[in-house]
Amino acid sequence: MMDYNDILKEIYEEVKPLLGKGRLADYIPALSCVDSNSLGIAIVSVDGEVCKVGDAETNFSVQSISKVYTLAMAFAEHGVGLWDYVGKEPSGNPFNSLIQLEHEQGIPRNPFINAGALVITDKVLSLYKKPKNAILDYVRKVADNEDIYFDKEVARSEKDEASRNLALAHFMQSFGNIQNDVDRLIDVYCHHCALSMNCVDLAKSFLFLANHGENPFNGDKLLSRSQAKRLNALMLTCGCYDESGDFAFRVGLPGKSGVGGGVVAIIPGELAIAVWSPELNEYGNSLVGVEALEHFTTKVDKSIF
Ligand code: DON
Repeated sequence: MMDYNDILKEIYEEVKPLLGKGRLADYIPALSCVDSNSLGIAIVSVDGEVCKVGDAETNFSVQSISKVYTLAMAFAEHGVGLWDYVGKEPSGNPFNSLIQLEHEQGIPRNPFINAGALVITDKVLSLYKKPKNAILDYVRKVADNEDIYFDKEVARSEKDEASRNLALAHFMQSFGNIQNDVDRLIDVYCHHCALSMNCVDLAKSFLFLANHGENPFNGDKLLSRSQAKRLNALMLTCGCYDESGDFAFRVGLPGKSGVGGGVVAIIPGELAIAVWSPELNEYGNSLVGVEALEHFTTKVDKSIF
C-alpha cells in the first residue's frame, strides 16, 4: 500500500479546528462520558498494512457500525430470503424513526435504521443458541483480534433508556416481523451496539467487505462476491441514514457510522479507513469523521466513482 501516514497527519491538522462544533450523543447516558476532543484515524490495506494517526488505538463504542456485522451474519445464512423481512431503500428519516413502519406493514426500509437492524438481530437470535457469543466470535475473526469485548456499562446504559427501540420491536412484532422475545432481542442488540473497538480494529474488521467477502486474515469466505457487493451498496445508500446522500456526494465510498462517533469506509479491492471523533452532527454521524473522510478521498483522488 502507498504510505498514507503523511496524508493522515495533514488531514488530522486540517479537521482538528472543527472539534467543538458537534454534540456528543447523550440519549445513551454512558456515551456522554467520553472525551469530546478525541480524534483518531486508521487505514488498513487488504494486505494488512496499517497507517494511523491520533487516538487510533483508543477504544470507543461502535454502536450502529455493529449493524454491518449482524447483517453480514444474517445475509450469509438467509441469502436473498432476507429481503422478505427488511427493505433495501434509503429511508430519508432519522435512524430511530417510527414513522414509515405502519405504512409499510412492519417491514423496515433498510437494515441500518434501528428498526431494520432489530429485524436482523432477531434473525441472529434465531440462528444461534448463544447469539452474543456468536457475534463476538464473528467480530474477533474479521478484526483479527481476540481482545474485543462488549462494554457492559454502555450496554446497560442503553438498555435502561431503550423505550424507543422496545417500541419499534414490539410494533414490528405486531406485524409478525419479529420472532423472538423482545426483551431478549433488545439485550442482544444493546450488546452488539456496545462493542468496544478502536479505529485499527474497525478498519481491519471491514476488510472482508473491501475484499469481495473473503476475510483476508484467514481466507474464510464470509459472503459471496455478489453478497459483498450488495452489502457495500447498502452502506453507500443507507449507511449514514438521512445523510447518506450527502456522504456519497462528499466521500464517494460505502461507509457506516455510529453514534459513538466512529465512521468506517472502504475502497473495494484496496483498503478500509476508520475515523473516530465523538461529536455528532444533526444526523447523528461524526461531524469531524465525515469531514476527514471527505479530505481523504479528495487528497488521494480515489472513490468508487
Ligand atoms: O439503537 C441506538 O439508538 C444505538 N444503539 C445505535 C444508533 C446509532 O449508532 C446510529 N448511528 N449513527
